[in-house]
Amino acid sequence: MRYLALFTAIGLAAGCGQDRRPAPAAAEAPQGAEPAGEAAPSETVNDVPTVEGWQDWEEVSRERMFSEGHSDMWVEIYLAPEHVEAYLDEDADIPDDMILVKPQFQSETAEEPEDLTVMIRDEDTESGWTWAMYSPDGAQVMEAGQIQMCTACHAAAGEDMLFRELE
Ligand code: HEC
Repeated sequence: MRYLALFTAIGLAAGCGQDRRPAPAAAEAPQGAEPAGEAAPSETVNDVPTVEGWQDWEEVSRERMFSEGHSDMWVEIYLAPEHVEAYLDEDADIPDDMILVKPQFQSETAEEPEDLTVMIRDEDTESGWTWAMYSPDGAQVMEAGQIQMCTACHAAAGEDMLFRELE
C-alpha cells in the first residue's frame, strides 16, 4: 500500500498527462532517493550526525582549560549559536538536538585537537545524552552510545549532566 501511495504521488508530481510508470520503477524509488545515506554507513556509529564545521560554532569556554576530568588534556567547548543560551541557563529546557563539542588538546597552545568528545541530546536514552568521540575534524565517529566512563563522572554534574565549567 505504501508503494501504491508513493506511485500515485510520483504520478501527480510528474503531471497528470504523462504515462504512468510501471509498478517496479515506483518500487525502486525509495532506494534511489537516499544515495547520501547509503554511501556513508561506515562513518557513523549509532546514527549520530557528524560534526564537521564545529570550529565555526560559538566557543563558550572563555579560554582553553586544563581538564583533570579529561585525562589532563586542555579543552574548549563549542555549541551551535542557537543553543548557547539554553546551555548557559541552568533553568532552560535543553533542546533535543543540542550538540556540545569539546575538542581536547595536548597543550595550552597546540593548534590541532587530538580528538573531540561530544554530547548529543537525546531524551530517549538512559542518561538523556548520547556520548561520543570523533576525529579532530568531526568527520569520523570513533565511538557513540551510553559510554559508562562518561556518564559515571558527568552524573556528578546533576540531573542534566552538564558541568558548565567554562574557565
Ligand atoms: C572524571 C570526570 C569526567 C569524565 C570521565 C568525563 N568528563 Fe566530560 N567533563 C568533566 C568536567 C569536570 C567538565 C567541565 C569542564 C572541564 O573541567 O573539563 C566536563 C565537560 C564536558 C563537556 C562540556 C559540557 C559540560 O558538561 O558543561 C563535554 C561535551 C564533555 N565533558 C564530554 C565528555 C565525554 C563525551 C566523556 C566521555 C568520553 C566525558 N566528558 C568524560 C568531567 C568528566
